[in-house]
Amino acid sequence: MPLPPIQSLTLTDFRSYAAASLDVSGGSVFLFGPNGAGKTNVLEAVSWLAPGRGLRGAPALEAGRRMPGETGGRAWAVAAAVRLPADGEGAEPRRIGTGLDGPGGRRIVRIDGEPAQPGRLSEFLRLVWLTPAHDRLFIEGASERRRFLDRLVFADDPGHAREVNAYERSLRERMRLLTGDGAADPAWLDALEAQAAEAGTQMAFARARTVAALTDEIGRRSDRPFPLARLDLTGPFEQAALLGEPFFAVQDSLRLGLARSRPRDTAAGRALTGPHRTDLAVTHVDKDRPAAECSTGEQKAMLLNIVLAQAARLARDPGAPPPVLLLDEVAAHLDRARRAGLYGELQELGLQAFLTGVERPLFDGLDTAQGLRVEDGALLPA
Ligand SMILES: Nc1ncnc2c1ncn2[C@@H]1O[C@H](COP(=O)(O)OP(=O)(O)O)[C@@H](O)[C@H]1O
Ligand SMILES: [Mg+2]
Repeated sequence: MPLPPIQSLTLTDFRSYAAASLDVSGGSVFLFGPNGAGKTNVLEAVSWLAPGRGLRGAPALEAGRRMPGETGGRAWAVAAAVRLPADGEGAEPRRIGTGLDGPGGRRIVRIDGEPAQPGRLSEFLRLVWLTPAHDRLFIEGASERRRFLDRLVFADDPGHAREVNAYERSLRERMRLLTGDGAADPAWLDALEAQAAEAGTQMAFARARTVAALTDEIGRRSDRPFPLARLDLTGPFEQAALLGEPFFAVQDSLRLGLARSRPRDTAAGRALTGPHRTDLAVTHVDKDRPAAECSTGEQKAMLLNIVLAQAARLARDPGAPPPVLLLDEVAAHLDRARRAGLYGELQELGLQAFLTGVERPLFDGLDTAQGLRVEDGALLPA
């Protein structure tokens, strides 16, 4: 296996850890221990090494270590030594870190000791994760699936987050005008809708690109022991992008759609058309059944297939930073054959993964990985 991207990790006052560190000796790392031991906390720590709020989606103020009764806000830090393939085997690893700089403070990011914008973290790592929260993905509303989709797009194209934010900001501002006192200025509405249409079309095209690439990759994986998932985007703007319609035509139809639905949107109090309404529809190919009708284990295995396909693509892309997988309590959901398939694939593709599970035997067969027993805020050699 090539040297893994994350070579070491240090946690300071993060969640249940006062101080913990880990030198990665193998490729992947598996953590086992009883419920509440602090396994997910380690994966969450790694997930903060990406822009955004980590895999719990929690505010940075909540992640600092707290004593019983203590309110949030304590300073915390997560740091890692990371190796970029482009730097070559002999190069010094790069140091990336993030945290909260003091009680009630702000999130900070450092790269090789210098303050940096959080967005720059995606120059070093592309994180892809699957957690127990995803067990409800297919029975929840569309917004959770959009978030899952947008995370996948984001690992492909870090600019996607900016487009999503710009789009949502324009729509919010437009709603404020539409529902405010007095008549809204039509020229101002035109300008906001033009902005929304531009960012929204970028968003829709980025989603369509990722879904097309993933579909291609999943198709190559029909020999794997995971159920194949078909991905469809329900939104008309993404569908137009998938059908190869020109960008400006889609942008125009979104702009016109918004302009026409001003009265309807005013009455509804929200925008009824646009890529913020898209859903990701997932179908179990062999059974030709929507994912929602599949068993929990099948759903998990399909999601894992999607996530592995994404990691495999990123790992092959020489221009992209290396992918790292965070698989929280995934092993326990899989039968023996699929577990063996997962471990074989991680090793074959040389992917680095951080995995958790309650019992050590879940990781039998993950031979090159490093095992850690998690106990009362400590990481102990297995
Ligand atoms: N901000 C915090 N400060 C201190 N402890 C925390 C904080 N947030 C969560 N914890 C503790 O971390 C533990 C849960 O850790 P977690 O990693 O989710 O366990 P598991 O090993 O089951 O994945 C709980 O005991 C919880 O009380
Ligand atoms: Mg956990």
